[in-house]
Amino acid sequence: MNILITGGAGYIGSHVLKALLERGNDSVTVIDNFYSGSKEALITLESVGKFEFIKCDLSDTFSLREIFKTHKFDAIIHFAAFIEVFESTVKPLKYYLNNTANAANLINLAIEYGVGKFIFSSTAATYGEPESGVVSEQSPQNPINPYGKSKLMTEWILKDAAAANPNFKYGILRYFNVAGASSDGLIGQNYPNATHLIKVATQTITGKRESMSVFGTDYATKDGTCVRDYIHIEDLASAHLSVLEYLSSNDSDIFNVGYGRGFSVFEVIETAKKVSGVDFKVINASRRDGDPAVLISNADKLKTKTNWKPKKDSLELIISSALEWEKKLK
Ligand SMILES: NC(=O)c1ccc[n+]([C@@H]2O[C@H](COP(=O)([O-])OP(=O)(O)OC[C@H]3O[C@@H](n4cnc5c(N)ncnc54)[C@H](O)[C@@H]3O)[C@@H](O)[C@H]2O)c1
Repeated sequence: MNILITGGAGYIGSHVLKALLERGNDSVTVIDNFYSGSKEALITLESVGKFEFIKCDLSDTFSLREIFKTHKFDAIIHFAAFIEVFESTVKPLKYYLNNTANAANLINLAIEYGVGKFIFSSTAATYGEPESGVVSEQSPQNPINPYGKSKLMTEWILKDAAAANPNFKYGILRYFNVAGASSDGLIGQNYPNATHLIKVATQTITGKRESMSVFGTDYATKDGTCVRDYIHIEDLASAHLSVLEYLSSNDSDIFNVGYGRGFSVFEVIETAKKVSGVDFKVINASRRDGDPAVLISNADKLKTKTNWKPKKDSLELIISSALEWEKKLK
């Protein structure tokens, strides 16, 4: 397949790029503006396989159109977006313009240039604060921050676009909490300002932070801290390959991507201390707006409808791979 990856220099995009290069039978083009992406990751991946990189901002419709004119893409995997929930509450337009308007423009070009498959990085944040904590793809979507809303609107655009264009199929992947690094140590999460719990814990273990905060210890959970479904980046990456294959002989569909089990913030911190042997400083802070108590995926659909087989469902493995990667970063 001739595949376009947007945001391929980013954390998840680079791992999916790596998985495609290792599979070895696709022609892959990556675009990124390096807002939060890593040039080093792309340079490293040149040793894994051949791909084309084009520096381009998704808002640059003129350049984007030129790329579509000169490449005949069969599929697009769309990662490029802004991803910080708190920032989205203070700069909502920044999120709607990049995550929704730029995505709509990309979808429009995809249809105009006959691209048959579009895989979209959506998020568990589109579910908002679910009552039960465990969500299936049919659960109500009530996002409570502009980030989640910007992603949900793109889901709606994709559904309407596919309904009106029978040759255009989407695969919407709603990721849960993604963490870890590639097991061969080649790539991982580079962005120093990332707010993800396991990234922050590994930064604290390696002395890049003096301490880390736990936001809220009075939730109605087993130990008072939020519970999340942490998934290893390599299993998340392989889900994209499975859904690409699924779309070759099936209609558009939506999949949760998680393991279907949860760990509390305190459990993650305890495991990080055990895995690293470092007793780092943890500060109990007040709740942040917009954090649901529990968010766990019902991931049965991805496992039963596609050939996806998770191989790294272990919190220790996720944390140790993230830690090994963090130790390598300056
Ligand atoms: N990391 C998570 O836990 C998580 C969870 C749910 C959903 N997601 C979604 O997955 C996708 C990838 O997330 P990530 O963690 O890899 O983030 P990331 O910030 O590492 O990657 C995003 C990439 O997109 C690029 N980019 C952003 N705006 C662009 C633009 N206008 N033009 C060109 N390039 C642009 C950035 O430079 C970066 O390389 C995002 O769409 C995000 O919403 C991530």
